[in-house]
Amino acid sequence: MEGKLLTGKKGIIFGALNDKSIAWQVALKAWQQGAELVLTNSPVAVRMGTISDLAAITGSKVIPADATKMDEIDRLISECMNHLGGKFDFILHSIGMSPNVRKEIPYEQTIYENMLRTFDISALSFHRILQTAYKYDAINEWGSVVALSYVAAQRTLTGYNDMGDAKALLESIARSFGYIYGRDRKVRINTISQSPTPTTAGSSIHGFDSLVDFSERMSPLGNATAEECADYCVVLFSDLTRKVTMQNLYHDGGFSSMGMSLKAIEQYKKSFEECD
Ligand SMILES: NC(=O)c1ccc[n+]([C@@H]2O[C@H](COP(=O)([O-])OP(=O)(O)OC[C@H]3O[C@@H](n4cnc5c(N)ncnc54)[C@H](O)[C@@H]3O)[C@@H](O)[C@H]2O)c1
Repeated sequence: MEGKLLTGKKGIIFGALNDKSIAWQVALKAWQQGAELVLTNSPVAVRMGTISDLAAITGSKVIPADATKMDEIDRLISECMNHLGGKFDFILHSIGMSPNVRKEIPYEQTIYENMLRTFDISALSFHRILQTAYKYDAINEWGSVVALSYVAAQRTLTGYNDMGDAKALLESIARSFGYIYGRDRKVRINTISQSPTPTTAGSSIHGFDSLVDFSERMSPLGNATAEECADYCVVLFSDLTRKVTMQNLYHDGGFSSMGMSLKAIEQYKKSFEECD
């Protein structure tokens, strides 16, 4: 394992449902770079998904936990510390779900119980995990926590619904806890704002295929894949990024800085030719 970026490091990966999941790719790459892992997902996702295959490949333990339940997060963090022999070095939060998106309820007719559930699963779960890990002093100095976000936190993208609000909250929690963890524990906390990626959660967004196509045409480097996102996560878990914290880091082929690209305008003009 000598010479690998994560040799000797241990971490928890939340959110690997199947091999399309971004978390799945992160777990694979982290393991390939020498890390020891605990994998976790909600009990229903552990039953319905294929996380046990990933555990077999990476030699990891699976501990189910619903990230909206404080007692389950508490048990998870203490079981992880027991299993990993004490403190660990990194956490990936790769959790998102909106009942409003799933049921195709438009933003302007939101159901507030659903909206609260969106925030609880997709953003407050991050706070719960960080608060519990802080309580147990579970993360080693110069450890690293990464959560996955999307540019809908800053810009309105039709169809993304209340997940845009959830991502804005997620990014804010990363900054608020990033200050506390940096000050008290020398631990860094960042979010990665990833391109649209064909996964179970991604594909539930209304008009997702068009969103993928649009951002592919708009981004000078094209959309970033789940595997490429995993590479970025590994670098953020490694000792090469020890002073990067409280940042929302775009990993989107340049999309977030674009206004209009040649490829997108050519496609836009074609649609007018069809109308004329
Ligand atoms: N796919 C995209 O286009 C895209 C783009 C940017 C950011 N993201 C973010 O990446 C992250 C991972 O999503 P993905 O695209 O890999 O899809 P995915 O469906 O593979 O992963 C979402 C995960 O959230 C888990 N989850 C849902 N409710 C949970 C709960 N109560 N407790 C614990 N886990 C729970 C699911 O079981 C699943 O494993 C999400 O935060 C998502 O918003 C995705």
